[in-house]
Amino acid sequence: MLVLLTLFQNSYLWGTTPGVVPLSDGAGSVLAIGAAVTRFSTGSKVAATFHRQWLSGELSSLARISQIGAHTDGLLRQYAVFHEDDLVAVPSNCSFVQASTLPCAAVTAWNALFCGHRTLKPGDAVLTQGSGGVSLFAIQFAKAAGATVVATTGRLGGERESQLRQLGATTVLSYRDADWGKQVRAATGGRGVDFIVEVSGAGEQSAAALRLGGQIVIIGGDGGSGGSIFDMRRTMGELRRVTVGNRDQFEDMNRAIEANNICPVVDERIWTFEQAREAFEYAQSGKMTGKVVIQVK
Ligand SMILES: NC(=O)c1ccc[n+]([C@@H]2O[C@H](COP(=O)([O-])OP(=O)(O)OC[C@H]3O[C@@H](n4cnc5c(N)ncnc54)[C@H](OP(=O)(O)O)[C@@H]3O)[C@@H](O)[C@H]2O)c1
Repeated sequence: MLVLLTLFQNSYLWGTTPGVVPLSDGAGSVLAIGAAVTRFSTGSKVAATFHRQWLSGELSSLARISQIGAHTDGLLRQYAVFHEDDLVAVPSNCSFVQASTLPCAAVTAWNALFCGHRTLKPGDAVLTQGSGGVSLFAIQFAKAAGATVVATTGRLGGERESQLRQLGATTVLSYRDADWGKQVRAATGGRGVDFIVEVSGAGEQSAAALRLGGQIVIIGGDGGSGGSIFDMRRTMGELRRVTVGNRDQFEDMNRAIEANNICPVVDERIWTFEQAREAFEYAQSGKMTGKVVIQVK
């Protein structure tokens, strides 16, 4: 059961193995299908899942080593052959450019907030850190779910802050302030936040920002600044580690994106296939606003 598609856009660079086509995220149209394919037809608009063969439930050891663009060929190419199980239909409100940004950062943010044993509820407070892809999606999802968002950035006072507020953050603070954790707590009336989408590994400050019994979802930053672990003694909080998510979660997220007309934030400059190297450098520079996308064709 194979689906052949042409990929229009890609984003997200992961540590790739030499000889493996890079980039984990992409979206495109189905060009042709095998006789036994039932999930899609020619012309379907699809995106690839980040972990191949992780359809639902717990992460298996096989799925763990099937990261697209790292262990298996990624999406910096025009054509690719996929098993139909490794693709999802993209949200109807998203362009190909927008949809190409969903497989890693968006699914990670969705998993962090809605797929643990404790899930985000209306009225909860969420802390996001910086303006990377995961954090921007987390703000949009949290806002749509009726939560309040406290966001941090290293660029307070400029366009970055306005963008975070526009997306749904009610308070924006600087992670360059030594006591930003305390400031987050103050911004929630002293209670602390229910969820922290932890991308920075700011252990001490995050622990200071968490409410009693809250949850820190570790996405990046190795779970603690300088390799130390979070001190959860004061809050009796929980730590949960997330690695992107499964296909069911991706499909649930896409329904929410459609229902709430959520538009992924994409940097205004779209790069060509020939400019891929510059696009990577640009993404590394941190100058972008939102996801960096390469349009292959
Ligand atoms: N576990 C998973 O499944 C998973 C999935 C995706 C990504 N990740 C990891 O999650 C992290 C974030 O990835 P991403 O793609 O969303 O973002 P990214 O592109 O790596 O993040 C860039 C942003 O990080 C912010 N930043 C820099 N230093 C910071 C600090 N000390 N504290 C808080 N924010 C800081 C900056 O925001 P400002 O410009 O606003 O200052 C910058 O724009 C990375 O480590 C990535 O490898 C993990």
